[in-house]
Amino acid sequence: IENGINVALQINGRTQKLLVDSRMTLLDALRERLALTGSKKGCDHGQCGACTVLLDGRRVLSCLTLAATCEDKAVTTIEGLADGDNGPTGRLHPMQTAFIKHDGFQCGYCTPGQICSAVALMSEAKNGEASYVTRNVRQTAKPVKLSDEEIRERMSGNICRCGAYPNIVDAIREVHGDKAVAQV
Ligand code: FES
Ligand code: FES
Repeated sequence: IENGINVALQINGRTQKLLVDSRMTLLDALRERLALTGSKKGCDHGQCGACTVLLDGRRVLSCLTLAATCEDKAVTTIEGLADGDNGPTGRLHPMQTAFIKHDGFQCGYCTPGQICSAVALMSEAKNGEASYVTRNVRQTAKPVKLSDEEIRERMSGNICRCGAYPNIVDAIREVHGDKAVAQV
């Protein structure tokens, strides 16, 4: 490969060594080199959120992330959330279960990105990361309780052309439950 770079990626708990073009996105590396096609290519321009994955626990748009910059970082894709893909129990992640229960999808194209984003949203709230909605933006030390408006705002980078938004909010609210204590 011209401009080739050796990179070791930690994908869903496994080390994957790849020789990639230095311009290859993480999304293309996942889909085309590792056959992890759960992450979807919607726009390839950072506008739809379909390609969202977790990088060291933070949500990122994999279409805007170069694979070569992910050396030794932990990448979690939708395939890595369910215990069934990696573990012995075959158990879905609670967010996946909630999306099914609340019909949080129709065609499903946006769903892997929605779920990865929703999982990251939960840890942002747990870590007391600042409110996007209130003017009083701040970092709190305590977990934050998310209003529906706050959930919608924090999920606004994930577009759903089927309009499953109300059910997505229902699913996230259920998982969010009473795990957080302080109201924003
Ligand atoms: Fe990455 Fe649309 S495919 S944001
Ligand atoms: Fe079809 Fe969201 S379920 S795009």
